Amino acid sequence: MPSHSSGRPRPGMMRNPAHAVAMSAPAASSLLAYCRPGFEGECAQELAGLDARHSGAGYARAAKGSGFVEFVTPDAAALAGDWRNLVFARQLLDVLGSARELPAKDRLGVLLPIIETEHPLHGRRSWCDAWVESPDSDAARELAPLCRALNAALVGTLKKRQLIDRTSRWRLHVCLTATDAAYVAAADIAKTAPWPGGIPRLKFPRAAPSRSTLKLEEALLVLLDENERERWLKPGMRAVDLGASPGGWTWQLVARSLHVTAVDNGPMDGALLASGLVDHLRADGFRYRPQKPVDWLVCDMVEQPRRVAALMADWLASGQCRHAIFNLKLPMKKRHDEVQMCLTLVADAIAAAGKRGELRARQLYHDREEITVFARTS
Ligand SMILES: C[S@@+](CC[C@H](N)C(=O)[O-])C[C@H]1O[C@@H](n2cnc3c(N)ncnc32)[C@H](O)[C@@H]1O
Repeated sequence: MPSHSSGRPRPGMMRNPAHAVAMSAPAASSLLAYCRPGFEGECAQELAGLDARHSGAGYARAAKGSGFVEFVTPDAAALAGDWRNLVFARQLLDVLGSARELPAKDRLGVLLPIIETEHPLHGRRSWCDAWVESPDSDAARELAPLCRALNAALVGTLKKRQLIDRTSRWRLHVCLTATDAAYVAAADIAKTAPWPGGIPRLKFPRAAPSRSTLKLEEALLVLLDENERERWLKPGMRAVDLGASPGGWTWQLVARSLHVTAVDNGPMDGALLASGLVDHLRADGFRYRPQKPVDWLVCDMVEQPRRVAALMADWLASGQCRHAIFNLKLPMKKRHDEVQMCLTLVADAIAAAGKRGELRARQLYHDREEITVFARTS
């Protein structure tokens, strides 16, 4: 288990007498991960797991409820591109330095030297864009107006210094953790989340029957790329939605012109039923099986995660569906271990059936004490 300590930027090594500012370029390199507040321990465990494949010398600094983890490791550069393989990290950034005791009148004056420091690998970087953001905690969310103001000033300054180059693969991130404390970090745009804070902001579709609809919309956006969405979600395909009532997930599939068998003893939204694309079956989702294989299985039943994972494994391994998206409601304790157990269960069942499989899992912004998994066989 990695050690946790305060995630605030630590007292620095170089003092700026003019502002009594503490700033530091990290002695060891480090990574900054954003996560759902309350899941810092799980996020740290995952990063330690990745780090174990390299030197294993890393350790986490995290404060419960802060919404971020700093992971100090000599192998930060090697780990930095691994965001897609993480379940609990919404974003994974390469830390260039941090500062605290930032003067309210000139925060940028302290941050710019860190930003402009020559990097051993990349020289003096230019940036395709710069984002000033804050973690997703209640406390840090209040920093949003300051982030916006600082973002405009930062981009203006970088433009003047000719450090913005839209063709650059690097995006600059400044993460404010308090009004006077910040991390400065870099992101390779091909390997990191393309949304500020790692959060895709989705608008609730008024016609959808439940807010759960945003979970499936986000899953399709985050777990699949554009090309995959086009190839794997085609009009006329057939889907089964287990635990479908009142129909938020079914609504997403119908919006893409799929035919859906919605399985739930609860009622389905009338407008959805009137679309002609939905068959509602009042049946037990654990017993129902389709007469013919379907393209998609989605499942949002509130049940023990292992039970849901075993059900998904059975559908995928037996070829009753090719693609699946399902939600795993997490237990109170050992959530990281439970996730690993469930993913292994599905992967092993697919392999035992002699099929090739792929699993992608993430705790989405619209997930609470749960994660969402995409699985497919080929
Ligand atoms: C979180 S809600 C689903 C919300 C839905 N995805 C939406 O977007 O509107 C969970 C649903 O699972 C259903 N459910 C729970 N156990 C079930 C079972 N064994 N078979 C079928 N449905 C079940 C419940 O009736 C409930 O409607």
